[in-house]
Amino acid sequence: MEFSHVVEPALSASTDLLVMVVFGDPSKDATFRALDTATGKGLSEAAKSESFEGKSGQSLVLWSNGATKAKRIAVLGIGPKSEVELPAFRDVGAVAAQVANKVGAKSLALVLPALGSQREGGAIQMLAEGAILGTYKFGRYLTGAEAKKASSLQHFGFIVETKGKKPTAAQSRTVKASIERASVIAAAVSRARDMINEPAAYMTPSQVGAEAEAIAKKHDSVTVQVLSAKKCEDLGMGMFLAVGKGSDQESKLVHLVYKPKKAKKKIALIGKGVTFDSGGYSLKPSNAMEDMKVDMSGAAAVIAAIDAIATLGSEHEVHAIAACCENLVSGRAYKLGDVLTSMDGTTVEINNTDAEGRLTLGDAITYVRTKVQPDEMFDFATLTGACMVALGPYTAGVMSDHDGLCRAWLAAAERAGEDMWRLPLTTRLREQLKSPVADMRNTGDRFGGAITAGLFLKTFAKDTPWVHVDIAGPASLSTSRPHQPRGGTGFAVASIVEYLAKR
Ligand code: BES
Ligand code: MN
Ligand code: ZN
Repeated sequence: MEFSHVVEPALSASTDLLVMVVFGDPSKDATFRALDTATGKGLSEAAKSESFEGKSGQSLVLWSNGATKAKRIAVLGIGPKSEVELPAFRDVGAVAAQVANKVGAKSLALVLPALGSQREGGAIQMLAEGAILGTYKFGRYLTGAEAKKASSLQHFGFIVETKGKKPTAAQSRTVKASIERASVIAAAVSRARDMINEPAAYMTPSQVGAEAEAIAKKHDSVTVQVLSAKKCEDLGMGMFLAVGKGSDQESKLVHLVYKPKKAKKKIALIGKGVTFDSGGYSLKPSNAMEDMKVDMSGAAAVIAAIDAIATLGSEHEVHAIAACCENLVSGRAYKLGDVLTSMDGTTVEINNTDAEGRLTLGDAITYVRTKVQPDEMFDFATLTGACMVALGPYTAGVMSDHDGLCRAWLAAAERAGEDMWRLPLTTRLREQLKSPVADMRNTGDRFGGAITAGLFLKTFAKDTPWVHVDIAGPASLSTSRPHQPRGGTGFAVASIVEYLAKR
């Protein structure tokens, strides 16, 4: 899909589909009234008969019948202006693109509603991201003709209201920069989605390494190392390697580095990379196991984010680390009651082999803390069902003892339009992790499960400023929303880029 700045005003734009956005009652909108007059009251009559009130999610589509240069007109509601936040435009961009594809339009021109120049760039970015992400399809394994059919929409133009004057150079620059940033972010999110949606039979630990290598090859500023299981053994990563013991796929530690010419800070992003989680001997029931190829969503997010960061540039040195393995059952698999020795020497009694993520992450955190020695580190993990119970399927749980860092992260996530909510690292729950035979055990009780997982990880983070992001809910969706078709969402990529990439 190509994006452009359309300089003709709404009434004279020649396009297959003219799209306008209204904040509630359409009759209050000047563009709507102008189009209504041009169509001989066609728009207001349609609005009346279809009870269109400009609410979020509502839409009207009309054949213009020659009344405008555009073949069709679509009016999309976004809800009252006072309540609309920029990320709402991502869904609007997605719906606009979906309407275009439904009616077979090759081009569309969207009239940007008046938001004030400060928010224009942000809205254009969200609209463009939505258009790309809302038409994302994982079709690699579909063989039918319908599935192979390409989207009709090729050109997505933006009409920026200029009150009769020519668009200024500054406006053109804003449109161009917003479109570019959106394209880079949406490409990275789509890459993460592809990695997540691939079946575990394909997306093995080695394949995750290959994806990282492909990104490093694209950018001079990015280097990669894929550490073998043997190398990880030499490093003493006993927790990480235990999880992959039951698999025929070799465990791999993937380490990508983006280096700017001069770096301010060193920031590490750690992703959970369990390419399939059967639960191990604490076997998951079939329905809970069905979607467990998504258990590498954190790895996909941090790896794909490096691609966008390298394209956009960052003033920081950014590391992405994923300890990748499969949690399976076999004669070599780790068992309940085993005592593992982690990279930092802590011993851990296994009382549940399905709490494998914290074992892989614990050693990844120690690797980062001691080998990378970052100023800040973040981990992204589909870690606990308990986090979904607490916050629902759309919100990530954020845990940290570093208030300033945590607030800065949450602010970036909010700007990026990804729902995240802080949970406390309640120290008292630490008791649940006591073991009679080792320094600790890997799981606590059912209540507070997201927090005890966070406390387990904290043991390894020690004093390094660290934020833990549990993405078990939002990493994949079973019901779609406009800019997120069902399956892997690429959640966290947009927030990471917002936090780290240059403007
Ligand atoms: N990968 C799962 C968590 C998960 C659940 C991710 C649902 C995405 C959707 C994780 O490894 C796991 O199995 N966690 C256990 C922890 C428990 C044994 C303490 C869980 O949540 O049940
Ligand atoms: Mn598990
Ligand atoms: Zn898991």
